[in-house]
Amino acid sequence: MADIAVLGFGARGKIYTLIALEEGFKVVAACDVGAEQRNAAKRIAGIPENRCFCDADAFFAAGKLADVLILSTIDGTHYEYAMRALDLGYDILLEKPIALTLAEVDGIAAKAKALGRKIGVSHVLRYTPFYMTIKKIVDSGAIGRVMNVNQTENVGYFHYAHSFVRGNWHNSRETCPMILAKCCHDFDILLWLTGRSCKKLSSFGSLDYFTRENAPQNSAARCKNCAAAKICPYDAYRIYAARPTWVRIPDGQEENWENAKKVLDDNSTFYDKCVFRCDNDVVDHQTVNMVLEGGIMANLTMHAFSGRVYRRIQVCGTLGEINGVLEDNRVELEIFGEEEKQVFEVGVRDLVSPHAGGDRLLLVDFMKYVGSKTADFRADIDKSVESHRLAFAAENSRLNNGKTIEF
Ligand SMILES: NC(=O)c1ccc[n+]([C@@H]2O[C@H](COP(=O)([O-])OP(=O)(O)OC[C@H]3O[C@@H](n4cnc5c(N)ncnc54)[C@H](O)[C@@H]3O)[C@@H](O)[C@H]2O)c1
Repeated sequence: MADIAVLGFGARGKIYTLIALEEGFKVVAACDVGAEQRNAAKRIAGIPENRCFCDADAFFAAGKLADVLILSTIDGTHYEYAMRALDLGYDILLEKPIALTLAEVDGIAAKAKALGRKIGVSHVLRYTPFYMTIKKIVDSGAIGRVMNVNQTENVGYFHYAHSFVRGNWHNSRETCPMILAKCCHDFDILLWLTGRSCKKLSSFGSLDYFTRENAPQNSAARCKNCAAAKICPYDAYRIYAARPTWVRIPDGQEENWENAKKVLDDNSTFYDKCVFRCDNDVVDHQTVNMVLEGGIMANLTMHAFSGRVYRRIQVCGTLGEINGVLEDNRVELEIFGEEEKQVFEVGVRDLVSPHAGGDRLLLVDFMKYVGSKTADFRADIDKSVESHRLAFAAENSRLNNGKTIEF
């Protein structure tokens, strides 16, 4: 059975490790620049001290330590580390985005092909029972010829504030455009569900709300000192009291509000920065219109302004339509002329695997793929590159006043 090394033992690295261990795989080495994350790797996976590395150079200098590398460091490191891992002989489960430029994305794919290595991209939506059910209905022909697809990525006001105003993905100069960070999944799912490529697209979007002009009167740079906190839904103390596990609490301490609050109280962390005074530049709403092969029109809308985090999809065909919300794990099929809708409850209750169970199914399938000469992998890098191509093109279009980009 193939074993695993994890480079980047943050939220994603930890989730994949927990799933891998539950599924009977060995996690034999880890690397993270953070001491807490390394401690977590030792504690969770029992990795010995000499297989826990504090920087990538040391990790790669140790040679190939496992069959598979889970590459789950922050976005800007993916290209360099993927190329180095390929040279060492690893097959890679690579977190999305594959890389930060199209040239780098193509470079990784080409190198993997040249060396005969396998790269799976963490496009977990392809492995959710929700989207698998929709795919099955579309492929069955039940809704006839697909004419229109609409996907909305409702990021959630609190999630947007956490990740795209205060946190890791707030600044496209340091990371990447939000349409790539958040929506390479959505482009990927549109392409996979329809089985069609995109012929052209255009996009509009902007950062309109999370700017200094919109700061409430009497507000302050930190929520802890802010007179407007009581009326501000973005007050960090309220947001994180409801979600203490979103705060990186020192390893070994219980993940509860008491400990999370201590982290917020510390001004060296970002958690309670005023959402109207950060150096964020990523859009807070964007829409992309696409023409796919076969005359299918597709729209993708992504925005911060929803009360919860959810993806809604509508697939319209000549004979019927499909509607659903991923997080509800429920798909509705309406066949034109039939009185009753068909409802598919695709509920998944997986406490370890987020993304409606997709993470677990993807990891297990990737490990099977690595161990086989004949198996196929649904989220292989070659099948994942187009989603990134569309995301880069959408950003290009947005920055050029909605210019149409043809492929
Ligand atoms: N597939 C998905 O749906 C999904 C969801 C969330 C995040 N992601 C992606 O997963 C990756 C990790 O995201 P995360 O949420 O786990 O972030 P995170 O910040 O929790 O984890 C990243 C970890 O990498 C470590 N790290 C950073 N630079 C490093 C370096 N040079 N060498 C070694 N370690 C380093 C950090 O200390 C941190 O522990 C990102 O690329 C992100 O875009 C994918």
